[in-house]
Amino acid sequence: MSVKSVTLTAPDIDKSLLDCLLDSRVPVGSGCKAGECGKCEVELVRGIVKNARGELIEAGIEGNASGCWIKSCQVCPVGDVSVLVEANRMVRSPAKIDSMEWIENSLCRLIVRVPSTANVSFIPGQYFELSLPAGVSRSYSPASSAEEKGRLEFLIRMRPSGVFSEYLKNRASINDMLFLSGPFGIRALNEVNQSRNHDIFMVTGTGVAPVTSMLRTFGRRYDGSASKATIFYGYRRGGFVPSELVNTRGVKVVLAASSEVSGGSPRIQDLFLKQGGADDTMRVFAAGSAAMVADVESMLCDHKFDLRYFYRDVFASSE
Ligand SMILES: Cc1cc2nc3c(=O)[nH]c(=O)nc-3n(C[C@H](O)[C@H](O)[C@H](O)COP(=O)(O)OP(=O)(O)OC[C@H]3O[C@@H](n4cnc5c(N)ncnc54)[C@H](O)[C@@H]3O)c2cc1C
Ligand code: FES
Repeated sequence: MSVKSVTLTAPDIDKSLLDCLLDSRVPVGSGCKAGECGKCEVELVRGIVKNARGELIEAGIEGNASGCWIKSCQVCPVGDVSVLVEANRMVRSPAKIDSMEWIENSLCRLIVRVPSTANVSFIPGQYFELSLPAGVSRSYSPASSAEEKGRLEFLIRMRPSGVFSEYLKNRASINDMLFLSGPFGIRALNEVNQSRNHDIFMVTGTGVAPVTSMLRTFGRRYDGSASKATIFYGYRRGGFVPSELVNTRGVKVVLAASSEVSGGSPRIQDLFLKQGGADDTMRVFAAGSAAMVADVESMLCDHKFDLRYFYRDVFASSE
């Protein structure tokens, strides 16, 4: 998997950057087209784009420091632009259900097997689409290690009247055949950054899946002095805390448990601020609901955090 550099020459300035990229057959993710899901994020490395408020965002021009992540559906190009996109080898593969483990009756740990010939691979923080035989597709971020071959693990929260939830709860059986496509989304925290060597994870609910994948894949890096990690995890009291969170050496974990009845957990954003808030040694990865991720982003903005070091995995509804 690698990053691909793409330059659009004289793009249509009346179209979104996402549509210009898709018109040019650039393999970029596309979802809500409303700035919510983050599937269309690319790194702007050179050029100027304009957002809906008419504000200009520029990179790589007249010594302007390097790139920034932008939601390409939310901006239009202003002249030539160069962007970096994930050049994933996208696969579409059958995926057989290997096991389903129920946790607290509302969370399914789903393991699927994929044929080794399909060469499925991903970077932690990316996601796949799983499709039911009837054609319904939903996005899920693997919790398994990216180094594990032929097997993917997902943590799936049941949603009331949810199509995929209803299938898992009532109809799914071992060896059922699903279809998998992907991976999609951006890389996050995959490489060590010498000056930004404190990784902050802010996650709620099944947002813990990509963090579990990261710890399983490269958690060893925190067991030394090169990098450190702090995880802020909001979950239901008595609910699921993956063992990797508490057992990975060098990783500090701040848990915020809420009661299903009375709620009342501290917000992970507040716990983060209580611990000192953002500084310029940090990279921040947030995963979970759109509201939580947007809130973290706005908190970081308020603290003048450089958003080039903010990564998100938004678990938006497919509706
Ligand atoms: C990039 C990405 C990664 C994701 N990764 C995961 C993951 O690892 N684990 C996981 O459990 N889910 C994840 N999701 C959410 C997942 O794709 C589905 O939205 C969710 O499983 C519900 O599917 P469903 O068919 O059961 O419900 P649907 O039939 O789609 O919806 C049923 C009802 O639930 C509501 N609903 C659906 N999804 C959500 C949501 N996420 N938040 C609040 N309300 C919702 C709908 O508005 C609707 O009212 C991810 C989403 C995205 C975009
Ligand atoms: S497609 Fe751009 S944020 Fe969803």
